[in-house]
Amino acid sequence: MEGACNRVSHQRKSGASRLLLFLLRASVLSAVVGYRPVIIVHGLFDSASEFVNLQRFINQTHPGTNVSIIDLFDRSASLQPLWKQVEGFKDAIYPIMQNAADGVHLICYSQGGLVCRGILSTLSNHNVHSFISLSSPQAGQYGDTDYLKYLFPQFVKSNLFHLCYTSVGQRISICNYWNDPHHRDIYLNGSSYLAVLNNERPNPNATQWKNNFLRINKLVLIGGPDDGVITPWQSSQFGFFNENETVVEMKNQEVYLRDTFGLKTLQARGDMVLCAMAGVVHTQWHSNQTVFTTCMEKWLT
Ligand SMILES: *[C@@H]1O[C@H](CO)[C@@H](O)[C@H](O)[C@H]1NC(C)=O
Ligand SMILES: *[C@@H]1O[C@H](CO)[C@@H](O)[C@H](O)[C@H]1NC(C)=O
Ligand SMILES: *[C@@H]1O[C@H](CO)[C@@H](O)[C@H](O)[C@H]1NC(C)=O
Ligand SMILES: *[C@@H]1O[C@H](CO)[C@@H](O)[C@H](O)[C@H]1NC(C)=O
Ligand SMILES: *[C@@H]1O[C@H](CO)[C@@H](O)[C@H](O)[C@H]1NC(C)=O
Ligand SMILES: *[C@@H]1O[C@H](CO)[C@@H](O)[C@H](O)[C@H]1NC(C)=O
Repeated sequence: MEGACNRVSHQRKSGASRLLLFLLRASVLSAVVGYRPVIIVHGLFDSASEFVNLQRFINQTHPGTNVSIIDLFDRSASLQPLWKQVEGFKDAIYPIMQNAADGVHLICYSQGGLVCRGILSTLSNHNVHSFISLSSPQAGQYGDTDYLKYLFPQFVKSNLFHLCYTSVGQRISICNYWNDPHHRDIYLNGSSYLAVLNNERPNPNATQWKNNFLRINKLVLIGGPDDGVITPWQSSQFGFFNENETVVEMKNQEVYLRDTFGLKTLQARGDMVLCAMAGVVHTQWHSNQTVFTTCMEKWLT
């Protein structure tokens, strides 16, 4: 394919026939190579408009890819509870899947990565090929960040559990994945999203959800130490604090060891990819070309 295109472009052509060739080549590429459609889910306080750079990177490297950036739960609406967002995003994404015989790719940023995990666990006939989790607090969040100060000025990380693990707290997205390592029992009882999705709190549908999640072909976990928001940053790769706020990596986490929702199976299958990059702040993950080239491009074919 590459060789054929190069040979053609070396011949001398008039402007019109060059244009024709260019158009032919573009349509042949997208028809023959047939990149799977890409669906993008945004995070907390942002919206579809933040992803123009990512869309451009995809269009440049894989021309003809149909990219859908789901425009739902924008900005302050992103504080709505995650199970509600799972239903909303699912309704938008499902028809796109049905249009894609060879499956789709899912890129989910920040909080959106948890929404996507909810979709992948509860949608029994999804056809997601690569699930790219882009700096997403997959193991939860525990930190005094600017977001926290802005949202809950009366609280700090050490006392937010008082609010978060109540039924009122669970109506706020960030409380759905608030993971206080000093109050594990209250988290297990009170977290109606992360603890359930992880099957840390017994869930009658856990086996089904695990099978659904395992329909993906690749799990790509992207994050890094200079993120500044995801705390600890290793949460983007399923690491988390223990009771002493020492980070325990994914492979020593209970959910991994007991394979409660499929992580260990994915690893054993060779379908888990970790991509850690220094020098990227939280709001730049989707707009940094190096991140795209290093961590995403090859999984979007
Ligand atoms: C994709 O790239 C082509 C060719 O450069 C351009 O015409 C088109 O507008 C781009 N589409 C998007 C959505 O950026
Ligand atoms: C892109 O995908 C959407 C959703 O499946 C579909 O409605 C739209 O027609 C597609 N666009 C192109 C250019 O194929
Ligand atoms: C467990 O959660 C339920 C429902 O949110 C709550 O009513 C109950 O008080 C909690 N129990 C403990 C021991 O925290
Ligand atoms: C389990 O699945 C059933 C049927 O799909 C559903 O009605 C129920 O709400 C689910 N249970 C939980 C805990 O999500
Ligand atoms: C946490 O620190 C305490 C006191 O230093 C120690 O006894 C305990 O074993 C530590 N726990 C873990 C899980 O490392
Ligand atoms: C993009 O990522 C690279 C590699 O991690 C980093 O060195 C660079 O500073 C980043 N650029 C921006 C603008 O964030």
